[in-house]
Amino acid sequence: MKFIHLTDPHMTASGELFDLDLEARLSDAVESINRRHSDAELVMVTGDIAHWGEPLAYERVNRILGGLAMPWYPLIGNHDVPEAYFAGLPNAPKDEAGRACFRLDTSAGAFIALDTLTEGTHAGSVDNRQLKWLDGELEKSEDSFLFLHHGPSRTGIAGMDRIPLLNPDDLYAVIAAHPGNLRHIFFGHMHRAFHGSWRGIPFSTVKATAHQVAALIDGESPLTSSREMPAYAVVLIDDENVLVHDISYMEEAAEFTYDREAGRPAAD
Ligand SMILES: [Fe+2]
Repeated sequence: MKFIHLTDPHMTASGELFDLDLEARLSDAVESINRRHSDAELVMVTGDIAHWGEPLAYERVNRILGGLAMPWYPLIGNHDVPEAYFAGLPNAPKDEAGRACFRLDTSAGAFIALDTLTEGTHAGSVDNRQLKWLDGELEKSEDSFLFLHHGPSRTGIAGMDRIPLLNPDDLYAVIAAHPGNLRHIFFGHMHRAFHGSWRGIPFSTVKATAHQVAALIDGESPLTSSREMPAYAVVLIDDENVLVHDISYMEEAAEFTYDREAGRPAAD
């Protein structure tokens, strides 16, 4: 099974932010996904759909991602404004409490998304109601994959560690009650390629389609942004593997094949 992990478009009403053409960055991602990965089952968009929460920003994202050849599912992030988010993204799943909390049954297993948006802070948390629901979902599903905006691990980047998931112990207690049922955690928020494991559970995130977080991995530098290239991730899942490929889709022009004999790029 193949799916696409895309995150943090941070769209604005104007389509621009920090001298970046956000509209082009997101549209190029859609074009690349459709051209190279039209066999993907779905696209997961792990939050910060808009930067300031303007209604026009959500309309813009809805129009651009509407061009995808496969279904796409958004999560909510700390920059999103729920009222505008749900109004502007008619296909955004939500639960009976109006949170962006949902389960998708895919050919790889259960994709479970939680809403970590927490009023008054750019940090996040998972409330008890969602944790209780997650407990039931993990009980039912031996092949589960969790999707969040705020990831549960620390990062080593001080600016991000000041706006983390605030209650990772609560999340872990639920996951640990169902050993082996959660195969991987995918999250957004980092604006960097960042992979590893948290308490033994593999995780990954991917660069934003908007601006990135500079890789100042010294535990003290202030949060610094970067205009480096965006990415999405292609994820391949089967019984043995969860494989995450980071795709720098705006650098496809850098690709070449080479002649092994001559040790030079092959002629076109
Ligand atoms: Fe973000």
